[in-house]
Amino acid sequence: MRRKLVAGNWKMNGGLAANAALIADVKAGLAAAGTQADVAVCVPSPYFAQVQAAVAGSALALGAQDVSAHANGAYTGEVSGAMLAEFACKYAIVGHSERRAYHGETDAVVAAKAVAALKSGLTPIVCVGETLGEREAGQTDAVVGRQVDAVLAVLDVADVEKIVVAYEPVWAIGTGKTATPEMAQDVHSKLRGKLSAKNAVAAAKVQILYGGSMKPDNAKELLAMSDIDGGLIGGAALKAVDFLAIVQAAQ
Ligand code: G3P
Repeated sequence: MRRKLVAGNWKMNGGLAANAALIADVKAGLAAAGTQADVAVCVPSPYFAQVQAAVAGSALALGAQDVSAHANGAYTGEVSGAMLAEFACKYAIVGHSERRAYHGETDAVVAAKAVAALKSGLTPIVCVGETLGEREAGQTDAVVGRQVDAVLAVLDVADVEKIVVAYEPVWAIGTGKTATPEMAQDVHSKLRGKLSAKNAVAAAKVQILYGGSMKPDNAKELLAMSDIDGGLIGGAALKAVDFLAIVQAAQ
């Protein structure tokens, strides 16, 4: 039985005062209601120290939204896995569609970032997902299959169980449009099939998250699907009450 994981992706949002209030409210909610799920917040890098201190000793884990494919060195603007590890980051999102679209990240770059995260002891949350045009052209399986295969191709067989995969249909991100539970389940089961072809034992353990307008009112039915093991939450992660409601739906 896989544990669920609910991870907030704050994207480029936040501020010292707002973060303090949000983390305090989420921590209080988790402490009051308890949780059987893994819960994390992936925050902008300037706030690592603040959030590391704020979540210490709580059920909330810290994550990053990206990681460099390189080790420390002359890579201006990059943040290495070793640096993330120093702040006790547990997770690093890699290959988010916004990074692929706005920063030109290719499948090969995303794969290298996943490996870099693993080398630093972080769990990469590998994002895959099709655009609306790709879905309408019947290319969903081919696109997400290609994206996940690129990562699997460079992973050691033993490392497959150390990753998290997030299926985020691009057309559902921040739009209020959500994949139906059946649509998402169909992609998730195919993704698990890809993982299984590389390492069947590990595939049964890997958490595959859904992301894309997951909200308190649709989380329960999505999370009830057999291959949906949690959520990667954007907008709803910025409001403690909504984030906590999704965590509750993941019990
Ligand atoms: O990584 C999470 C994300 O892209 C989904 O965003 O705002 O649709 O929940 P949102």
